[in-house]
Amino acid sequence: MAVHEDNILILDFGSQYTQLIARRIREFNVYSEILPCTATLDEIKSKQPKGIILSGGPSSVYAKDAPKPDFGLFDLGVPVLGICYGMQLITDHFGGHVAAATHREFGRAELTIDHAAGLFDTLGGHSTVWMSHGDRIDRQPEGFVPIAHTANAPVAAFWNEQRRVWGLQFHPEVVHTPDGTTMLENFAFTISGCKPSWTMSNFVESEIARIREQVGASQVICALSGGVDSSVAAVLVHKAIGDQLTCVFVNNGLLRKGEAEKVVATFRDHMGMKLVFADEADRFMKRLAGVTDPEQKRKIIGNVFIDIFDAEAAKRDDVDFLVQGTLYPDVIESISFKGPSATIKTHHNVGGLPEDMKFSLIEPFRELFKDEVRAIGRELGVPHEIISRQPFPGPGLGIRILGEVTAERVALLQEADAIVLEEVKAAGLYESIWQSFAVLLPVKSVGVMGDERTYENAVVLRAVNSVDGMTADWVHLPYDLLANISNRIINEVRGINRVCYDISSKPPGTIEWE
Ligand code: XMP
Repeated sequence: MAVHEDNILILDFGSQYTQLIARRIREFNVYSEILPCTATLDEIKSKQPKGIILSGGPSSVYAKDAPKPDFGLFDLGVPVLGICYGMQLITDHFGGHVAAATHREFGRAELTIDHAAGLFDTLGGHSTVWMSHGDRIDRQPEGFVPIAHTANAPVAAFWNEQRRVWGLQFHPEVVHTPDGTTMLENFAFTISGCKPSWTMSNFVESEIARIREQVGASQVICALSGGVDSSVAAVLVHKAIGDQLTCVFVNNGLLRKGEAEKVVATFRDHMGMKLVFADEADRFMKRLAGVTDPEQKRKIIGNVFIDIFDAEAAKRDDVDFLVQGTLYPDVIESISFKGPSATIKTHHNVGGLPEDMKFSLIEPFRELFKDEVRAIGRELGVPHEIISRQPFPGPGLGIRILGEVTAERVALLQEADAIVLEEVKAAGLYESIWQSFAVLLPVKSVGVMGDERTYENAVVLRAVNSVDGMTADWVHLPYDLLANISNRIINEVRGINRVCYDISSKPPGTIEWE
């Protein structure tokens, strides 16, 4: 992996905010990367950071299994900033003392700045900050000077001028600390001497050059799903190597209405990419016949996809590389510090491709967050419709049709789903909602239309907001919008006579119904 000349390295001690620190720093165009707190000194050095941040974390420094970094990092001649647990580590390491606070501080606190220089340059007087800690520093180490306090934390911030080490008891990375951005900017620019060189157009340029070099004259294959990540990855790689890239797009018959045609039109016709369209809906449908168990459905859909992709790849015996749209949070999730030992979790990869494929991977977004991938997509001219797409699961409508999946039921749900999307878009809400969709239930209910008694299917509307899909809240869609959707589905989709609204959050519900 290339080293970014101006970068801030973050060591993760398990705080829920660690990724946020990296995002904040990248927002002012300085590259920032996270390593687990167990990183060796050599790993840390290999990143050539201009500054190091020790994140917060749930532990107490005096706990038996408290995570500790390689303290050699303090001798690298690089400025260090400890946040919350990070500050307590500094305190303990340099001989100060941390005590359990009599008043635990969670939430907003009024900070008094006692020394408006360095980290607090251009700030002064008072500032609102976000505290989230049980312990506090009651004696700073020798050589460290308190530079700010709150009512409950006499040493809310300190520094050691000679060592160039800072500590903050509060979280500068969250929006509830309005001056936090200035503090992080001061750390990155003034203290660490970074230049704002991390921009999306620089990234695109250097990535194109890197991909060209990596691939040489080889052929590359990409499983295109039509989602944001794989689409932008394919376009970027295409820009680098043109027709050496072949995209494989599998129609599993479980896509949204008109989606297969749209993907082909966009990538093959509009973007001029080499695209294999494997139109295999029948094959999926045959294998799904009679299956109602959710996990079994997922497995079948995944396995058939892999068989098809494998067969397409095998047709090209000169393919050496596979493009994947893996994002930074997936990478972090799999290596980050979670509790007393590092947790290894399998990467989510496109369509669950097997690990033993003979290709080398091209993962241009391994260092990026989703909003950064969207920015690259814009830079590369990927249509807005694709960049702004809500997440759509790999098994598609197969896990939104409860009970058996048949071509007729897929068609029914496609119609209802299209209306949901149209209306949510018309209400201007599509891009602010994480996901909004319809689910087809395996029950029928009685209704009346005109003078006729009906006995038809029921669909459920689901709209959720989420930051990462791990937790979600149901969205309070306006009643008028719900009414429009319900009216249109019942009037326009023959075979559906009832629309319900899902008001479950995750947990305990999941976003998808299967
Ligand atoms: P759940 O239903 O677990 O979904 O709350 C969380 C998020 O993941 C998406 N999802 C999937 N995405 N392949 C995917 O690519 C899958 O098999 C899959 N299952 C769920 C879901 O849409 C939501 O955004």
